[in-house]
Amino acid sequence: MKTFFTVLGASIAFFLTVAMFGTAGWDRPPLAVHQNGFRGTAMEQVHTREGVAEAMAANAAPAPADPAEPGEELAGTAYENVQVLKNVSVNEFNRLMVSMTEWVSPEQGCTYCHNTENMADDSLYQKKVARRMLQMTQHINSTWKDNHVGGSGVTCYTCHRGQPVPAHVWFTEPGPNRPGGFVARNNGQNMASPSAGLSSLPYDTLTAYLADKSIDNNAIRVNATTALPTTKGKPIQDAEKTFALMIHMSEGLGVNCTFCHNTRAVSDWSQSTPQRVTAWHGIRMVRDINGNYLEPLLSTFPPNRLGALGDVPKVNCTTCHNGQSKPLNGAHVVEAYPELAKSTETASAAPPAVPATPPTPAPAPQ
Ligand code: HEC
Ligand code: HEC
Ligand code: HEC
Ligand code: HEC
Repeated sequence: MKTFFTVLGASIAFFLTVAMFGTAGWDRPPLAVHQNGFRGTAMEQVHTREGVAEAMAANAAPAPADPAEPGEELAGTAYENVQVLKNVSVNEFNRLMVSMTEWVSPEQGCTYCHNTENMADDSLYQKKVARRMLQMTQHINSTWKDNHVGGSGVTCYTCHRGQPVPAHVWFTEPGPNRPGGFVARNNGQNMASPSAGLSSLPYDTLTAYLADKSIDNNAIRVNATTALPTTKGKPIQDAEKTFALMIHMSEGLGVNCTFCHNTRAVSDWSQSTPQRVTAWHGIRMVRDINGNYLEPLLSTFPPNRLGALGDVPKVNCTTCHNGQSKPLNGAHVVEAYPELAKSTETASAAPPAVPATPPTPAPAPQ
């Protein structure tokens, strides 16, 4: 009997081993590896080729509308209630309205924003939000051109992708639905928040780093700059929040940490890639968008659009990037819509320009 089981066990093990080498399911899928740092530093992005092809297909930019017929008449004089696009020709204005409908509300049409009895009427909240969105898009494409969005720029489609509410927006999370208990101060951990990549890291990271436009430029510093402590350092909680933010940024861009950092010296700017500087500005740009454009719309949005704590829907890296390091495969989407490329806000109304501080080394937290 014993011999029988030994032989049976050995033959099953033999067949499983053969199956392991012979079956397609066990093969490693073909990889697309892109080296983005010095050789030997393991700075590379590893994706499957299939994954790259799928992401490219899912992020194709729509073709721009045919150019408008030239015309002299300006929208500001032809129409009754045009406040942002005053100096755009009527033909170009109508072309943009058609494109905006395709980008934001293709199923609902013009009526998503307009009372079609009177196009000048501002009674729908959607139209008031859309007007501010026009100013926001112009601001992103002008103020943040050199430091972040470059020649690609953004249109409504970059965030909306054919839907009135972009797929990736976020709200301040209300936190644990229970009283203190044993671990009253758990630093927001173990909540499996999507913004921390479902890890056990703090759930309120985005609120800490991406919501408040007034946060000091160099707040995200946790690495020591000296071998021994010289001042009272930052608490470990800051490191946890920083890590959660980094996970959000990596996921949002579909990259790993070495896209920006040489992980032998994470904080050292001189060993980081140029993309880390773009990301540094990206963090400030997101604060600018959320603090100066979305938060002031609090009273314009209807209550059903607000979060559990009554806050406005906000933007993060994923809203534009959608898992790619360059949104919409790097297409230069704003070129065909020059009216979206320059700001029309008066200098006093527009939010202040890009923070001038370059990403200098840390001011020695410890
Ligand atoms: C996503 C929202 C949105 C959609 C969809 C939209 N519009 Fe508009 N429309 C606006 C906004 C915002 C303004 C005001 C622009 C400004 O103040 O510069 C406006 C203004 C207008 C005006 C000027 C009205 C006046 O007398 O002041 C016309 C005409 C117009 N739109 C036509 C259209 C048509 C036609 C469609 C459908 C093809 C359309 N719009 C779809 C948001 C939208
Ligand atoms: C940087 C990303 C971004 C860009 C660019 C952008 N939007 Fe938005 N938009 C948002 C977010 C975030 C919201 C809030 C979502 C919500 O309403 O719940 C929003 C909301 C809206 C709404 C209200 C939808 C609703 O029913 O609540 C309209 C209308 C709108 N946007 C129009 C536009 C138009 C038109 C443009 C281009 C001129 C534009 N957006 C560009 C991010 C963006
Ligand atoms: C898209 C670029 C990018 C990616 C990807 C990225 N980081 Fe960062 N990281 C930054 C930037 C920018 C800063 C500085 C932020 C600031 O100063 O506001 C930073 C700061 C840090 C810091 C603080 C450094 C200091 O001086 O104390 C740590 C730690 C860190 N990142 C770890 C990581 C880890 C771990 C990952 C992967 C999970 C990662 N980063 C992925 C851009 C990136
Ligand atoms: C309003 C839309 C928008 C948001 C929000 C946004 N980005 Fe970007 N980002 C862009 C565009 C557009 C480009 C492409 C620029 C170009 O083609 O030169 C870009 C480029 C980048 C690049 C350079 C990629 C490369 O391959 O060179 C990095 C890094 C980056 N973004 C990081 C971030 C991070 C981190 C966040 C969140 C904190 C963020 N971005 C939020 C629009 C956005």
